[in-house]
Amino acid sequence: MGAINDLFALAKTARARAHAPYSRFPVGAALRTESGSVFFGCNVENAAYPLGVCAETSAISAMIGAGESKIAEILVLGPGPERIAPCGACRQRIAEFAGKKCIVHLADEAGGVLSLPLGELLPHAFGPASLSHDLKKREPAFGQDHAKPKS
Ligand code: THU
Repeated sequence: MGAINDLFALAKTARARAHAPYSRFPVGAALRTESGSVFFGCNVENAAYPLGVCAETSAISAMIGAGESKIAEILVLGPGPERIAPCGACRQRIAEFAGKKCIVHLADEAGGVLSLPLGELLPHAFGPASLSHDLKKREPAFGQDHAKPKS
């Protein structure tokens, strides 16, 4: 695993902190930004089931709260022996802050990992660039500087 040992360890720590009493499916995620910072998160479920958030989403929230917004790689670790892949909604959330070459590491408990570029997990994605034509006409909203199209 080598270069992603730190992400694996953090995802494991996060997974142990998951709040998943309903699914009993704790998940941990850890990401590295392009600047080298690392953030992690776990799934947080709710008695009102649809309100639960995924581990990847929690890690992204931590990143945004720390003032960073460019994901270079992200690792996800589920509870069982099998690898899990980010759900569709999380692929879209990752794509908001990453390019096609961002590496998504699907880790298993034994430390095995399948590493795929985001472009393969979410081909033909709709993302901030898709809105460029429209966004060019207006000022970025507060907190939306990352979505500002490059001119
Ligand atoms: N879950 C994640 O946190 N990340 C994924 O990539 C897939 C699913 C969570 C959501 C829910 O709390 C539990 O796993 C079962 O779906």
